[in-house]
Amino acid sequence: MRNIQQIETHERSLRVSVDPEPEQEGRPALWPSVGEYPIYDPFFYTTMTTDDERNQRFRAALSQLAPDRRVLDIGTGQDLLWAREGVQAGARHALAIEVIGDAFHKAAANLSSLTPRDRITLLLGESTNLHFAPRADVCVAEIIGSLAGAEGAAAVLADARNRHLKPGGLVVPHRAVTLAAAVHLSDLLPDQPVAFAEASLPYLRSIFDWHGKPFDVRLRVENPSADALLSEGAPVEVLDFNGDLRTEQRTTTRLAITRPGRLDGVLTWLNLWCLPDEAPLDALRMKTNWASIYLPLFENPLPVAPGDILELTFAATLSDDGVHPDYQLSAALHTADGQQHHGSLESPHHGGAFRAHTTYRTLFPAS
Ligand SMILES: C[S@@+](CC[C@H](N)C(=O)[O-])C[C@H]1O[C@@H](n2cnc3c(N)ncnc32)[C@H](O)[C@@H]1O
Repeated sequence: MRNIQQIETHERSLRVSVDPEPEQEGRPALWPSVGEYPIYDPFFYTTMTTDDERNQRFRAALSQLAPDRRVLDIGTGQDLLWAREGVQAGARHALAIEVIGDAFHKAAANLSSLTPRDRITLLLGESTNLHFAPRADVCVAEIIGSLAGAEGAAAVLADARNRHLKPGGLVVPHRAVTLAAAVHLSDLLPDQPVAFAEASLPYLRSIFDWHGKPFDVRLRVENPSADALLSEGAPVEVLDFNGDLRTEQRTTTRLAITRPGRLDGVLTWLNLWCLPDEAPLDALRMKTNWASIYLPLFENPLPVAPGDILELTFAATLSDDGVHPDYQLSAALHTADGQQHHGSLESPHHGGAFRAHTTYRTLFPAS
């Protein structure tokens, strides 16, 4: 059973399906994907500063790359985390940039209590609109999404390499990949309704307020079980920050169904390398602040069996802000008995349809 609650956004009242059970450690939960919107709050920054799986990787990269170098920390957040770590690792200087006003002001207050603080400079603004000199040797930017590129990492870091980094300068992280596997949403939320966690409603409202109206937000699944996957995971988005970094890309991949079940979409998750030769962080199998994103493809769940193939085309194009990607998915399920079923999804960063798919009509029921 799900509860229905009303949220008020832009003088519009919306009905939202809400899970009546409170969130518990390890239990799956459905949230809107938040990281790609400028609505970070102290709760979100704390989930990141306490993410050991993530932090040990960034720290190890900085201790290798920062000594005696000029470091640029794009998206430093309220805690100036990587600028501070860079300086502690021996950087000559760290330039920290933050675009959210509240986070910048908290960072400024933090900076005034640091010693020595003369090795860190803090700027307010979006790195893509700022001009400064000298260029940095190392750019650290934790602007990686649960869909790897969703927070604009490709466009922001392509610009940073062009304008803010010295020739031969290095970016941390080194590489981010989004993997996708076939799933059924209900398998990801066993014994619980397809409904948002109650604690997520203020963030849902903030996203709609920021955009000015509701739209079909990306769906973040916390604690999904890897046992719910109907296929292996395959890469659908690859971001090589120190190599051939593409701001737009399109891949087609064939996901072989490995067990009988029902399929209505794909689950995507992050693999992240801060240094090239390390084992990646795997957001599906490790405890980290990055969750997985469920993307619905078919209006109704389709029965599948081993031998069936889900052919998935996954494309990222830049949205009208020139930074955040819109994603377009299309899929053909080829069943062993020769049938084909087609599904698709437009998942823009902002705007686009509202209640376009069954899943969204379940989450936002009509009155
Ligand atoms: C995921 S948080 C990371 C915060 C902190 N660096 C950490 O790792 O815990 C991303 C931060 O980057 C900021 N941000 C994203 N893109 C930016 C850009 N192009 N310029 C400046 N800040 C940016 C966001 O506002 C947010 O505070």
